[in-house]
Amino acid sequence: MNKNIVLIGMMGSGKSMVAKVLHKKTGLPLFSVDKLIEKKAHATIKEIFAKHGEVYFRQLEHEVIVELAAKQGIIIDGGGGVVVNPENVAVLKKNGILFFLDATPDVIYKRIKGDPKRPLIAGPNPLGRISQLHTERFPLYSQAADHVIDANDVTIERPVAQILARIK
Ligand code: S3P
Repeated sequence: MNKNIVLIGMMGSGKSMVAKVLHKKTGLPLFSVDKLIEKKAHATIKEIFAKHGEVYFRQLEHEVIVELAAKQGIIIDGGGGVVVNPENVAVLKKNGILFFLDATPDVIYKRIKGDPKRPLIAGPNPLGRISQLHTERFPLYSQAADHVIDANDVTIERPVAQILARIK
């Protein structure tokens, strides 16, 4: 497997859980864009947003993606916003198969409501914000994706099996 397996989709779509199981089942190295950003900044994502703002966060995100996209045969757990910058998508697609984990705003809301680590939904109307982001980003995820995977199930067995079947 020379190509990278890249997971994209909204926060709460199950990217990180699916990525971990894929890593266990395939033995391919796993890299989380969010974790690498935190390492680079010596701060949590919440702190980066609070101290430096989203534009700075997106710059770090882009740098991490360029570094990861240069590797081969790895699993990339992408943050929810990676598709907002078309350069991220272009560089990831060069050497990767992109899987869009597609979940509805309601499902996402149930999974992540009250999570204090997520700055983008820290406002008074998290479901409204999730719906808005979903509307904005759905076309971007769909366009970027090589495969769309239904991620609404409570368990991740099916998404994992579908991804494995497509990389054989
Ligand atoms: C973001 C999603 C988060 C994280 C940051 C911004 C987004 O990643 O990168 O809070 O813009 O949707 P997850 O999708 O891994 O939660």
